[in-house]
Amino acid sequence: MTPASESQAPLVIAIDGPSGSGKSSVSRAAAKALGIGYLDTGAMYRAVTWWCLDQGVDLEDAEAVVRAAREMPLTMGTDPAAPWVEVDGRRIDAEIRTTDISSVVSKVATNLDVRSELRRRQRELMAGIAERTGGVIAEGRDITTVVAADATVRILLTASEEARLRRRSAELHGEASQTTIAATRDQIVRRDRDDSTVSTFHEAADGVMLLDTSDLDFDQSVQAVLDIVAAATAESR
Ligand code: DC
Repeated sequence: MTPASESQAPLVIAIDGPSGSGKSSVSRAAAKALGIGYLDTGAMYRAVTWWCLDQGVDLEDAEAVVRAAREMPLTMGTDPAAPWVEVDGRRIDAEIRTTDISSVVSKVATNLDVRSELRRRQRELMAGIAERTGGVIAEGRDITTVVAADATVRILLTASEEARLRRRSAELHGEASQTTIAATRDQIVRRDRDDSTVSTFHEAADGVMLLDTSDLDFDQSVQAVLDIVAAATAESR
């Protein structure tokens, strides 16, 4: 007899949301709880940006950026307990989170040919992860609508602008004072405005569950995701 885990279709969960919505940490914790793999697609846009700068590619040269994205030797570590990013044999986990990268990554993320290359890689990675672990949570800006529009569970994780600024500010600067909130505003408000020219992640598309975490703490947000997953999988059984 085939064990249930082998006969069941993989559990594919797509989570989108704006900066500071908590989608990365919540997705990781939910993937851990479910015992499945995790894919941070934003890290892939950051990796292309880092690779271009490392290789001396001008981010204004759209065609050169696309070539770099296609050639980039990228490996993604997809264990939710300790995800990592490696390009050309080099671990770049800290490098891709610097303000230098955050402030220019939208130039790469709004390049439509880069997007189609990364979407192709994301679908391939998701299929591999799901096959190995029985499922995957992929998070980003266009996962629920484009990359995995047929996912078992699709969630748009949001929070008020104020809550997102507070969270990202505490994450980046260890505190949420007036000054650090102002410094974070560019990353949250301006970057999301630029990114939303190519993806829809402020409103839930048809069939996508909206989860507003403004008034939820971290554990409550993770639990809310797990509840949505449990309800969706019970329904599809
Ligand atoms: O989630 P993040 O801040 O690490 O994302 C980095 C950048 O990539 C950000 O500008 C949004 C963009 N992005 C995207 O356009 N599509 C995705 N699926 C994920 C991220």
